[in-house]
Amino acid sequence: MEENITIDKPAGKLGVLMPGLGAVATTFIAGVMAIRKDIARPLGSLTQMGTIRLGKRTDKRIPLIKDFVDLANLNELVFGGWDIFAESAYKAALNAGVLDKELLDKVKEDIEPVTPMKAVFDQNYVRKLQGEHVKKADTKYDYAQMLIEDIQNFKEKNNLARMVTIWCASTEVFMKPHPVHETIESFEKAMKENHPAIAPSMIYAYASIAAGVPFANGAPNLTVDIPAMVEFSRQKEIPIAGKDFKTGQTLIKTIIAPGLKARLIGLNGWFSTNILGNRDGEVLDDPESFKTKEESKLGVLEYILQPDVYPDLYQNLYHKVRINYYPPRGDNKEGWDNIDIFGWLGYPMQIKIDFLCRDSILAAPIVLDLALFLDLAQRCSMKGIQEWLSFYFKSPMCAPELYPEHDLFIQLMKLKNTLRYIKGEDLITHLGLEYYD
Ligand SMILES: NC(=O)c1ccc[n+]([C@@H]2O[C@H](COP(=O)([O-])OP(=O)(O)OC[C@H]3O[C@@H](n4cnc5c(N)ncnc54)[C@H](O)[C@@H]3O)[C@@H](O)[C@H]2O)c1
Repeated sequence: MEENITIDKPAGKLGVLMPGLGAVATTFIAGVMAIRKDIARPLGSLTQMGTIRLGKRTDKRIPLIKDFVDLANLNELVFGGWDIFAESAYKAALNAGVLDKELLDKVKEDIEPVTPMKAVFDQNYVRKLQGEHVKKADTKYDYAQMLIEDIQNFKEKNNLARMVTIWCASTEVFMKPHPVHETIESFEKAMKENHPAIAPSMIYAYASIAAGVPFANGAPNLTVDIPAMVEFSRQKEIPIAGKDFKTGQTLIKTIIAPGLKARLIGLNGWFSTNILGNRDGEVLDDPESFKTKEESKLGVLEYILQPDVYPDLYQNLYHKVRINYYPPRGDNKEGWDNIDIFGWLGYPMQIKIDFLCRDSILAAPIVLDLALFLDLAQRCSMKGIQEWLSFYFKSPMCAPELYPEHDLFIQLMKLKNTLRYIKGEDLITHLGLEYYD
């Protein structure tokens, strides 16, 4: 295959802006600094440690992904963001309690200068939080203009060549798509009228796209997953992706469920419960924020198992997800799954999973990969929804006429085939008959 897409070189610095300098964002920033200093390895990051097979299995061409597609180098990343608390990334990381003080002190000089800009915040959308480090303006449109200015100033001040924005702030209350989300005109009008259907996360997304900066949404909020934003991103030729980082229990679910389905094993019930005690857990203790998360978590099995296609196996599946705020655990979540399955002749069996996981440790490499891949997408002139990044999301965005692809293995194949496509390499189908001719 010919190389069919022009990829601009990743020359110069790449700014990574994050609304929300909390547990995930600071674990990501501190981690990248530790990797730069060679005191840690980029475990869990496909862009840093992943390889890609090219050509036939006998060709033995298996480069690292970062070399194959020429991703931005970690030394070229510059971090920034917004938060409703003014503390530095060092202080916020200490408070989050994910990484040891000993490790944080080794990167203190690098992360202490990362301080948040004033946030666009409204407690109506995150009821459990209250902060003073916030902007003041008359309309939501004015807030967007202030954010655009922040982005431009950050770019200038740090002499950046390119930027990306990744939403790492708290989960907002559950919102349904509203008629004002339909077109960019109705959306802008609604911002000017302070319409309640415009959440702060949407204002950040709007500002980012308006400033020419790709945007990914790590939380389950609607944010960019509305027609107005999709249209705006296509108009401005900006890649967007979302939503809700796929970590923890949902990651495991999308690993196990495709396996059970592959072997035509039936499911009666899947009960998932969690305890976690970080600020994210506290925010999710509010039923309205939990509902946003619940919707994002529940869809996964439905789409993977396709009960309409396999009624005998999955029609009667009872799926329940619970999140319980339990402060003693901090960021170290425990997730239990009880899975009631049935096999040959309908005989029942059970699977129990007890996942002692660390949420932000699983999320940090996703932020890194999304930053580098969104930058790649922009350098390849890709615009609008980047479905090939579904691999990273619990609730992947896709074209309106499609259903989202949740199976982790199909998502990975889609991602790697997209990279092969960009570089003009043959796509891999795994047919393999040619080896036996
Ligand atoms: N850790 C994971 O595994 C995981 C997985 C999927 C999704 N997420 C989502 O990622 C987000 C971040 O998670 P976290 O554990 O870092 O949470 P966190 O509470 O530690 O950090 C969120 C930060 O966002 C700030 N914030 C809230 N509203 C803001 C606004 N409007 N503008 C700027 N800052 C704002 C808060 O002050 C806080 O510092 C959450 O929405 C969470 O649901 C996390």
